[in-house]
Parts: sequence; structure tokens; C-alpha cells
Amino acid sequence: MNASGHLRVYPTPEAVANAFAEHFVASATRAFADRGRFVVALAGGNTPRAAYELLATQYNDTTISWNDVFVYFGDERCVPPTDEQSNYRMASKTLLSRVNIPSANVHRMRGEIDPADAAREYAQEITQDLGAHPEFDLVLLGMGTDGHTASLFPGTDPMTDSSALVRAVFADSVGSWRLTLTPDIFNAARIVIVATEGYEKAEALAAVREGRYDPKQFPAQIIAPTEGRLIWLVDEAAANNLKER
Ligand code: 6PG
Repeated sequence: MNASGHLRVYPTPEAVANAFAEHFVASATRAFADRGRFVVALAGGNTPRAAYELLATQYNDTTISWNDVFVYFGDERCVPPTDEQSNYRMASKTLLSRVNIPSANVHRMRGEIDPADAAREYAQEITQDLGAHPEFDLVLLGMGTDGHTASLFPGTDPMTDSSALVRAVFADSVGSWRLTLTPDIFNAARIVIVATEGYEKAEALAAVREGRYDPKQFPAQIIAPTEGRLIWLVDEAAANNLKER
């Protein structure tokens, strides 16, 4: 089984960012209409930066009622929120500090405390807010050059042990502790968007989407929403090795 989901190929990273932002607004609009609130898990890394910037500027119109937006994170590096490595810091600088979202609506993973304690704490927070079977309206993800997504890294046990909603994991490939939501919570989302770009991702993208199904080696393959939609937003460079178009 190859990675499921719709593939959208765009000519440039700027076009990917624009599509990312448009899907965010559309998903929020739908959630407001259906449930009166929008619950989203943000991606970390560099790829989402441009989309977050667009949401804070060009797309920051009245469409999004930020009072009714509830932000969580798909993963976090185990560093303080002021650290340059922090996904929270990146999202805050590019988006969250620039829109009128109440601080109580932003749920940060506490990367500065013991990883296992932070994972337990965040799982409790999510369960308290969203119930025992959380359903995000939108999950945003990226993909690494090794086919990881969020902090689901090749060979790590969050890939096989979904008993916890949130796991602390030591990622050998990056030499640091991470916090990550686990596959079941991603796959319970109504919409999952994976955005990836650049030639350096082409080999992994082809392996994830068209190679043998082996999520322990290519974790992004495990992202297959049970009832929701999966959309891959990629640029031409990342799609370079794909047979499908
Ligand atoms: C993180 C992300 C991670 C990221 C990929 C791609 O915390 O870094 O959750 O999964 O999405 O590593 O990163 P880039 O977007 O920087 O290429």
C-alpha cells in the first residue's frame, strides 16, 4: 500500500505556501460553520513558515475568528520556548503573535521540562480539552529527508506503540529528545495536510508515496486518516522522482 491521499504539485515553494494557507482558511471556515470552533495542530520545521507568514498577513482577514481557533502542536523539540529550535517559537514569531488569538487558545508542548513528564502533561491537556478520542479539524505536517513526519522517526517506538496520545522520543538522527503526537491521533483528524518541498525531499517522497509500504523505515507512510482527507502539497522539486502526477 502506498501513501494514500491526494497529491497536489505546485511550481514553487511560494505556491505551496499559498495553497497551505488557503487550505487552512477553508478548513477553519468549514469548522466554524459545523462546530463553531477550529482545532488545529501546527507543524514545525521550516516548510510551514511561509504559510504561517501568509496567514498573519495576506490571509489575516475577518474570515478567521481567532477567538474560536484552538492551536496545538504536532510535535516539539525538547528545548525552552525561547530556543531557536522551538517549533512553538517559530509558530509564535511567524503567526501566533501577529493575530488576535487568545493566549489560552494556544497549547504549547513544554519542551523545557522532563520529556516523559511533558508527554504525559500534554496528553492530559489534549484529553481534557478534546476528549479521549481527539479529532483535530486540521493537522499540518512536514516530512524530513528520511521520510519522518512530526517526530515520528524511523525505527522509533511511537511508530508501533500508539497506546499514548503523546510520546517522548530520543531521535538518534537529530541527536535530541522530541515530543510527538502519535499516529492514531493524526489519523483521527478530519483533514491532514503534508507539505514538503525541495530536491532534498524527492527521494524520500518517492519512497513514501510509491515505494514498499514500510512505515517503520518511512514513517510518513503511516499517515492515512481513518475517515478524514489526506492532502500532500509539494513543489516540482520534491516531486522530481515521482512516477505519479
Ligand atoms: C520538526 C517537524 C518535522 C519537520 C520535518 C521537515 O519538528 O522539525 O515536525 O517533522 O516537519 O523535519 O522539516 P523542514 O520543513 O524544516 O524541511
